[in-house]
Amino acid sequence: MASKKYHIITFGCQANVADSERIAAKLEKQGYKKTESPEKADLIIINACSVRQSAINRVYGKLNKLNGKKIILAGCVLQADKKKMADKINAFWDPKEYFNCKPIYESKSRAFVPIMTGCNNFCTYCVVPYTRGREISRPIREIIDETKKLIKNKYKEIWLIGQNVNSYPNFSNLLKTINNLPGRFTLHFMTSHPKDMNDKLIKIIKESKKISKEIHLPVQSGDNKILKAMNRNYTVEHYKKLIKKILKEIPQAKISTDIIVGFPGETKKQFENTVKLFKEIKFFKAYISKYSPRPGTLAAKFKDNVPMEEKRRRWQILNKLVCRN
Ligand code: 5AD
Ligand code: SF4
Repeated sequence: MASKKYHIITFGCQANVADSERIAAKLEKQGYKKTESPEKADLIIINACSVRQSAINRVYGKLNKLNGKKIILAGCVLQADKKKMADKINAFWDPKEYFNCKPIYESKSRAFVPIMTGCNNFCTYCVVPYTRGREISRPIREIIDETKKLIKNKYKEIWLIGQNVNSYPNFSNLLKTINNLPGRFTLHFMTSHPKDMNDKLIKIIKESKKISKEIHLPVQSGDNKILKAMNRNYTVEHYKKLIKKILKEIPQAKISTDIIVGFPGETKKQFENTVKLFKEIKFFKAYISKYSPRPGTLAAKFKDNVPMEEKRRRWQILNKLVCRN
């Protein structure tokens, strides 16, 4: 008998790409074979992301289109959405169910290595602590063994990933250990939180030849009042000082960021503070999001009072201020 086929649809960030590689491994162990065609599949896995409403809307769209197929929903999904989707899916897999599977990598040169999952920060707009739960770190041995295998298999780009990588216990030490492994590769990591970026970490990045000098540091807003309402735990001054320090130590560093425009109550004046920050720090890349309320978060209780048209306008202004070179 021909083996059963599965097809995976992945939404969201690298963490979900890495998770899909683990889901694939779990299924192959059960005897399934992968197919790129949803029509030919006996089983469809939808690995969902709930960070923005738009991605969840697309999951609903897929479920309607795939009606009648055997479907497993996985990834970051809120309880309320799970309930609404229940009659269209056969099962739900929580990330914990495949986090520890040995992955089947999609790329032959770039690999994502999850080092932690979940988040304890509770930024007021963010759904992650509710969908992925609190922070769980992988044991360092496991990470090093996985990385060694990747190097042996000639992977050139290794990405340590997690919602909050620099809160990993002794993260600088992990970076240093991997940097010292023999072989030709570059080491990247994301996402870092500005509050956990310290001098020791900057020094390790500076001194380690294999660590990429592209540093992703989400600032989210250039206004202190908005940062406070977001529960980010730092000020614009702290962030600017941090970037100055990084550039002093690592002049070739390229800084990228995440920004949310139109957070509840963000006035034009407060947005201008973000514009000012963008003019001061010439970000090499910026992932700009228009705020959307996420059920269950604290910010969902605030009035989403910046009209979509205005969010779009703010998005375009910032987009023009990014270097991308
Ligand atoms: N609305 C808009 N953007 C959001 N992000 C997270 N939650 C929301 C939300 N409710 C953005 C942040 C984060 C990135 C992954 O997604 O900028 O860093
Ligand atoms: Fe969400 Fe904030 Fe955690 Fe990032 S640090 S995953 S934005 S709660």
